Order: sequence, then structure tokens, then C-alpha cells
Amino acid sequence: MRYVTLTDVFVHPVAQKYLKRSGIAHAIATAYNAYRLAIQHGVNADLATKAGLLHDMGHYEWYSNGTWDYEQYKQNDIHAIKGAERAHKLLIRLGEHPQNAKEIALAILLHTDSYLPEGEFKRKPLQTIIKLADEADEEPGGKHHYRQIDDALALKKIKQLDELVNRQLQKERLDDII
Ligand SMILES: [Fe+2]
Repeated sequence: MRYVTLTDVFVHPVAQKYLKRSGIAHAIATAYNAYRLAIQHGVNADLATKAGLLHDMGHYEWYSNGTWDYEQYKQNDIHAIKGAERAHKLLIRLGEHPQNAKEIALAILLHTDSYLPEGEFKRKPLQTIIKLADEADEEPGGKHHYRQIDDALALKKIKQLDELVNRQLQKERLDDII
């Protein structure tokens, strides 16, 4: 069962504030990519789409002299740590199951390699999916964070994705019974 929908999350002022900062178009594209990958790999589409939507909510824009400083960002960024914490707090506040909130937060925490210790690191399937879903929408120089989307269209896409997730969970329940 779903405790919280993507729409519940998306319309919350905290999500709006942080998703606007890192780009709503990118957040939605990543959520859709996460949905497709979840279906392909047999991962829970509810958790994957929420993690995809919220994966960059810890973003901070690094500016020097009014322009985005990609080098500063590369050196100092901890957006996945902040994002994991913010997403967890928001999801719990909205009534998400604590186990789900934890899985989503961990997938956000591990969606980038930028601060992980070197060497072999084995991600769980949900964590791998979020990393791939994000990378599939990346544009050179971080341009994907600035792609625009109309507010009404954004909400429509989120609602459509909620429907797709509901149908998928329903289908899995039926498959279990039959
Ligand atoms: Fe991203």
C-alpha cells in the first residue's frame, strides 16, 4: 500500500521550495526514469519514483560573482546528504512508513559518487536505479538543473505518474494472488 502519493509530496511547500532550486523538470524526468527502471528490475515503483523526485532536494547553488561555479560545486557539494535528510523529514511529516522513508533517504544519499570513499561499493537495486535515473537526465555543465517546465504541466505529469504507480502496485498484488 501507499502511505503518501507523489502528488502529496510534490505540492508540499517544502518540496516546492527545494525542487525549484534544483529544477522541477529534472526532478520529474528523474522520477519517470526511476519508474521505468523500477519496472524493468522488479523494484518497488512507489519508493523509486519518490526517491527520483526528491533526489536533488538538498541542492545548493554555488555562485561566484553571480555565475554558477561548477568547480566550487564539484569540490564542496554535499547535496545528497542534505537531500536525504530533507526528504526523510518531509516524508515522515506527510505520514510515510518509517521503513519506506529510510529506504528512500538512503537511495538519495547514495545517488552520487562525489563524496564516497574510493573502492568497490555495492548498491542495493533501489539505490542503483536512482543513480541511473539521475544520470540518464544529466546534461553537460549541470544544465539539466535549469530546464524549465510549466507549473500546470508539472502537476499533471506528477498525477499521471501517481496513476502509473498505483496501477503497477495493483498489478503486483493481483500477480501475488493468481
Ligand atoms: Fe540530479
